[in-house]
Amino acid sequence: DLRGTLYDRIGPATLRDLLERFYARVAQDPLIADLFPGSRDPALWSVTLDKQFAFMSGFLGGPPLYHRQYGNPMLRARHLPFPITPDRARAWLACMQAALRDTPDLDQGTAAELHMSLTRVAMHMVNTETP
Ligand code: HEM
Repeated sequence: DLRGTLYDRIGPATLRDLLERFYARVAQDPLIADLFPGSRDPALWSVTLDKQFAFMSGFLGGPPLYHRQYGNPMLRARHLPFPITPDRARAWLACMQAALRDTPDLDQGTAAELHMSLTRVAMHMVNTETP
């Protein structure tokens, strides 16, 4: 079904499922895992996941949970403390691609659309060329 927002087509339960798979991949990724607070204290992965869930909910056309709780996301500014090279953006997207593939409740069209929107945002986060 191609009607409605991406949020309507995915739904909160599948979105959470997707993000759990995504951060399980991120936690194992040699290029980006160390950037996350969860790499020092595993209990913090769920904090990161909750924020990403809140952000994606609004980003995909659902309730703007992140805005309500934290205000304007200013994503690029919030990522400036982390040196994000093109390789790291590609690693982030590869984790997402794998998570999309591994989430059975997502149809291929919806997964492809989501991947395309996230590619744009991920490339926008690149803030350094050198590792
Ligand atoms: C936070 C890395 C791309 C959305 C973070 C954090 C890191 C990170 C290390 C801090 C986590 C924490 O404090 O819990 C990266 C890397 C990316 C990337 C390496 C590669 C391009 C993206 C993209 C999005 C995104 C594409 C959105 C679609 C967020 C959000 C937060 C966040 C919403 C929470 C911000 C906050 O602290 O309130 N990211 N990120 N990130 N990231 Fe990314």
